[in-house]
Formats: sequence, C-alpha cells, structure tokens
Amino acid sequence: MLLRNFYRTAVRCNVRYYSGNLANNKPPKILITGGLGQLGVECAKYLRNKYGRENVLLSDIIKPSEEIVNDGPYLFVDILDFKGLQKIVVDHRVDWLIHFSALLSAIGEQNVPLAVRVNIEGMHNVIELAKQYRLRVFVPSTIGAFGPDSPRNPTPNVTIQRPRTIYGVSKVHAELLGEYYYYKFGLDFRCLRFPGVISSDPPGGGTTDYAIAIFHDMFRKGQYQCYLKPDTRLPMMHVKDALRALSEYLEVPNERLTRRVYNVTSMSFTPEELAEAMSKYVPEMRITYQPDSRQEIADSWPQVFDDSEARRDWNWKPEVDLDQLVRLMVKEVKEKIAANGF
Ligand SMILES: NC(=O)c1ccc[n+]([C@@H]2O[C@H](COP(=O)([O-])OP(=O)(O)OC[C@H]3O[C@@H](n4cnc5c(N)ncnc54)[C@H](O)[C@@H]3O)[C@@H](O)[C@H]2O)c1
Repeated sequence: MLLRNFYRTAVRCNVRYYSGNLANNKPPKILITGGLGQLGVECAKYLRNKYGRENVLLSDIIKPSEEIVNDGPYLFVDILDFKGLQKIVVDHRVDWLIHFSALLSAIGEQNVPLAVRVNIEGMHNVIELAKQYRLRVFVPSTIGAFGPDSPRNPTPNVTIQRPRTIYGVSKVHAELLGEYYYYKFGLDFRCLRFPGVISSDPPGGGTTDYAIAIFHDMFRKGQYQCYLKPDTRLPMMHVKDALRALSEYLEVPNERLTRRVYNVTSMSFTPEELAEAMSKYVPEMRITYQPDSRQEIADSWPQVFDDSEARRDWNWKPEVDLDQLVRLMVKEVKEKIAANGF
C-alpha cells in the first residue's frame, strides 16, 4: 500500500512537468486532429471562445469550406504521418492535443483494415508524439468500448470490456495504452468515454446516429425510418454537455484525478421515447422501424452509463435534459436547413 502511494505520488509529480501553460496564465496552444467531423468543428468554436482564436488549430485530411478557414487556423494533418505530426507540433509550439480522428462503429465494420490503421496506428503516433513533446493529450472513448459481457444497466467506470466491433476494440486499446504511458512515463493522458453525442452537424457513421438523423428527416420529409427497434435504450448527451465535459476535464489539476479514463453521460432514452419528446414540437411526425446490422451493435452496448466517478472527482454534472435537447435540436436543425439545405 505504502509503495503504491509512493508510486502514485511519483507519477503525479512527473505529470506536472507535462502539463500545458495554464500555470503561467498563458493559454495553451491546442491541436485538434480529425477536426472536420461531427465534434471537431464545434469543439474548435468552444475552445477558441475560451483560449483565443489563434490558440486552437483545427486539422483534418479533408478540404475545408470557406467558413472553416474564416473561423480560424486550419491545417492538413494526416494522423498516419508521424513526421508531419512532429512538424506541426514543433512549428506551432503545441501544448495540448485533442485526438478526434477515427472511423466510428458502423463505418469501421465496413472497412476493418482502414479502421485498424486510423484508430490503432493513429493512436500509436499520437501517444508517442505526446510523450516526445510532453503534450497533454485528450482521446475520446465511447460506450462502444463495452460489449455483451459488460453489465449494461448501469455500466460502471471499471468493469469487463469485451467489445465486438473494431471501433470498440481500438478504443479499449487507446484507453489501456494511454493509462500505460501515464504510469510508465508520466504522460498527461486524459480520456472520457462519451455516450452518443447529439448535435445538428451530420454524424460520422456511428450506431447512435439515428438520434440526429431523425431531426433532419422529420423537417425534410415529415417521417423517419429508424434502423433500431423502438425500445433500444442507449446513453446520450447533447454536444454542449460533451464539449463542456471535455473542456472542464482538460483543466482539472492532476492531483484531483483518481483515473485517466472516466465515463460521462447526460441521459438514456429509446427511439420511441425520443419520438414522444419530439411530438410536442413536431406533432405531425411519423416514425417507422426497420432494424439493420446496427441493432446487434446497440444490443451489446450500455443502456445506462454510471458516471459517478467523474461527478465525484471533478464535479462533472450534465445540464441538458431530454426536453432541452429536443428544443435545441429543433431550433438548430431548422436553422441549418434554412441556411444551406442540409
Ligand atoms: N460523435 C459521437 O457520438 C461520439 C461518441 C463517442 C466518442 N466519439 C469520439 O469522438 C471523436 C470524434 O467523433 P466524430 O463524431 O467527430 O467523428 P467523425 O467520424 O465525424 O470525424 C472523424 C474525422 O476523422 C478524420 N480522419 C479520418 N482519417 C484520418 C486521418 N488519416 N488523419 C486525420 N484525420 C482523419 C475524418 O476525416 C473525420 O473528419 C472520435 O474519436 C469518436 O470515436 C464520438
């Protein structure tokens, strides 16, 4: 016990050496990889408001729209190119890395070799880079890091993890690798397991995407055909809560963290319950159900996520409930359709 405490203290002291510039009141320089997906663009907006436009570098391998370029610094960064990553970190004096590049659950099953490269080899590059340049590194994990052997209601922070998708396997790999680098080298690795994140931006091919697509289809076609059964319960969160969780967690002093990987969530609902909550705002809506291969994935995932450890260690608390989520989505999706037709 004594030895363990000594070891933990030693690792924590070492970790301070890795942390960004907040101690000298200078905002950190942040690089976001895979930044043109569902979460990256919103994340850059959120962090630019907090730390300044020039301090948040958005990156991806996709050609950006004019709007993205006008919003702030944007760079080409391929997560599989280690030298390219080193150059960006050195040239821009990066302190924190937010690693979003990934192939999500449904897309990953369609191209396993590519998912192995992007999700696993990409993670090897990121972790080595973070070690070499002493970066604070944030890697999101997911409810998909659990599988049919895990308790599903509720799913605690530490339990059996035997996922059956390449996406889930790669996220367990990332969690374990990050923890290992923390214990071995004092790397300031931070990871949150997000539930399905809901925003008005187009989703990236995950199993919880229905909860976004339903809003878009309702306003464009007046109906939605759901690929999950009506009673499929999954944990979910509005993007506002997800980004606040990410941002708050990145600033927590290492001394307060008892883990490097935390579950976070806001709520759990089924397609039927979401449709019911939406009917208040869209009374004419129609929903039908035609389950596909994503049903099997959803049936192996947590139904209710236990985030009590995040609440205890760094006061995590969600703010957006189901009714507020629906209200926000109705407003934002209507605005998006009016502005650019998607
Ligand atoms: N969206 C969610 O509901 C959710 C839930 C839990 C965890 N997460 C995690 O959050 C992160 C971001 O999710 P998202 O929904 O924005 O994903 P997304 O699929 O929308 O975006 C991923 C991005 O990665 C980029 N990418 C692919 N290959 C790349 C490469 N070789 N180099 C650099 N970039 C590359 C893609 O171009 C894409 O823009 C992912 O790691 C995901 O696992 C998301």
